[in-house]
Amino acid sequence: MIQKNPFKQAMVNTLQKPEFEELRPGIKVPAKETILTPRFYTTDFEAMAKMDISVNEEELQAILEEFRTDYNRHHFIRREEFAQTWDHIDGDTRRLFVEFLERSCTAEFSGFLLYKELGRRLKDKSPVLAECFTLMSRDEARHAGFLNKALSDFNMSLDLGFLTKSRSYTFFQPKFIFYATYLSEKIGYWRYITIYRHLEQHPEDRIYPIFNFFENWCQDENRHGDFFDAIMKATPDILNDWKARLWCRFFLLSVFATMYLNDIQRSDFYASIGLDARDYDKYVIEKTNETAGRVFPIVLDVDNPEFYDSLEVCVKNNEKLREIDASNSPTPVKFLRKLPAFISNGVQFLKLYFMKPIRVDHLEGTVR
Ligand SMILES: [Fe+2]
Ligand SMILES: [Fe+2]
Repeated sequence: MIQKNPFKQAMVNTLQKPEFEELRPGIKVPAKETILTPRFYTTDFEAMAKMDISVNEEELQAILEEFRTDYNRHHFIRREEFAQTWDHIDGDTRRLFVEFLERSCTAEFSGFLLYKELGRRLKDKSPVLAECFTLMSRDEARHAGFLNKALSDFNMSLDLGFLTKSRSYTFFQPKFIFYATYLSEKIGYWRYITIYRHLEQHPEDRIYPIFNFFENWCQDENRHGDFFDAIMKATPDILNDWKARLWCRFFLLSVFATMYLNDIQRSDFYASIGLDARDYDKYVIEKTNETAGRVFPIVLDVDNPEFYDSLEVCVKNNEKLREIDASNSPTPVKFLRKLPAFISNGVQFLKLYFMKPIRVDHLEGTVR
């Protein structure tokens, strides 16, 4: 029997629309910072300003010209495809959608803040780099703004000013900023383009129009990645020695492992757009690893079956950790119960770190 009781109807709607904690009405409390959430960075601006980039000045100039062209000036415009309600995306899918948009918006915004500050601080001392950073911050502001607008389709948004003040910032030396941002731009490129191409093949899975924007959008990320590639090539010391090989290994592994754990935990989101999270991540990792080989002296041996075996152990550990977190035990008890999973994660990370990487620096100058 179909009940037309409005009270009951309201109850069903509340159930179907997951509740989020709010700072103010409609403004979402940002997700708790954990080791797996997008990070905010700061760096040694003086050291960055003093960098001599003259060996690769020509390439950097060419990239600056591309940034000035501003190919996506008219791309991020919300047209009629957004003008409808999205209440049919409900329940868990809705929660996962909001989470995906929030994570992406936070990551884009973190890029905006860092690039904006670099543009400002380098302005008088290193004008080419400064302008590149400023123009990249323009792109990231668009990306973050577009994602935040998308959140408002789900009656939520982020207070980016609040985020700026409330988040903690990780300090990295310039070279670590380069490794980390290079990888996050390139992995961002592969993530967006892979979703876009999948939906091109499967229009039935296009449940929300933001994905239609990913093709041009990811070209911004690709250009940003190329900029960091060019900077690293301008300062070859940060690529050439044994320390560089160890650090590149560390950053590749951290970026891949973080993405894998995050995405597998949210497999249902990927399933809602017709993607298998594991297949998607393995493809993105393979492509990003391959791309990184154009500048990094090593890449990871991601074809070695042990690579994903270890990551799967971490996936299991994380499931346990979340279960314990959700339980009612007092904090010290929770900690003790979590300890074995923490230790196991550490062991797997070391195992992964010490897996023999693939040297590619001898290929310098050849087409890869
Ligand atoms: Fe971006
Ligand atoms: Fe970017």
